Amino acid sequence: MKEELEKIREECQASLALAKTEPEISEIRVRVLGRKGSLTQLLKRLGTLPEAERKEIGRRANEIKEDLEARVEEGLRRIQEQERTESLERERIDVTLPGRRMVLGRRHPLTQTLDEIIHIFSRLGFEVVEGPEVELDYYNFEALNIPKGHPAREMQATFFISEDVVLRTHTSPVQVRTMEKKRPPVRVICPGAVYRCDSDPTHSPMFHQVEGLLVDRGITFSDLKGVLSVFVQQMFGRGTQLRFRPSFFPFTEPSAEIDIECFICGGKGCGVCSNTGWLEILGSGMVDPAVYRFVGYDPEEVTGFAFGMGIERIAMLKYGINDIRLFFTNDLRFLKQF
Ligand code: PHE
Repeated sequence: MKEELEKIREECQASLALAKTEPEISEIRVRVLGRKGSLTQLLKRLGTLPEAERKEIGRRANEIKEDLEARVEEGLRRIQEQERTESLERERIDVTLPGRRMVLGRRHPLTQTLDEIIHIFSRLGFEVVEGPEVELDYYNFEALNIPKGHPAREMQATFFISEDVVLRTHTSPVQVRTMEKKRPPVRVICPGAVYRCDSDPTHSPMFHQVEGLLVDRGITFSDLKGVLSVFVQQMFGRGTQLRFRPSFFPFTEPSAEIDIECFICGGKGCGVCSNTGWLEILGSGMVDPAVYRFVGYDPEEVTGFAFGMGIERIAMLKYGINDIRLFFTNDLRFLKQF
């Protein structure tokens, strides 16, 4: 039994020395020191030995057991240590490498333009209100003094949802909705998407407008001129020349379109301004008394003005963009420029 004991020791020490992984060591531990392990089995058989031999071999066996247990622990520690070193090596971080840049998003040029417009008018006391894009014929046309069969309907290539429902062709219906709800004084701007069946480099079937409406006692055409002059100066720069050109809209009387001096040619005439020296930026006028009757305002008591401008057009002029479709194709090379 003595020799058997030494053989177990030798064999176990040798295989522990060769073991390279945790499972290998565990396997040795079970094989020798486990409940059915060779050393454990041997210890159980000690009782069959004569007294003297039992004492001696028993002591030796316990010595060996302790020694092997210590070697197993030691082996496990060694392997864990080695694995930790290897994984640190593998996952080493080079803190001197430059960091990855966070790409910051930015506001769309149309949003920037709209925010600027809103900012200017809010400082003049205008409040932002919105209305639906799917609109009743009544608000888009009828109540704006454009009855069925009126030639002005033909000018706005309308998308019809049904006989009485359209995609709004302008933001002017929000004027009517606002006046229906609120008594004068009214001072609002109404931004939003509008739709017309039209598509080329300067027209998109969906585009955006900002409507303005101011109604109170004693409002005159001079107020319209004053407010819109301030807007032009702030939007396009101090000293920008503008002119009021007589025009026609069924819902305003008198009506005027506002042009600014072409900043490409400085008014001399060029391709951008079709050799006129002027660029049209918005439509406007004094609210037609016919519209007040639809909303229950007394035209003898109040007067006011309205205006409407295309946000894409303003942005195109301001930033020198020649194709409206650039706003809607989400090309980052374009969007990153703003
Ligand atoms: N709604 C008109 C258009 O879309 C613009 C406009 C608004 C004109 C308000 C006068 C007053 O062309």
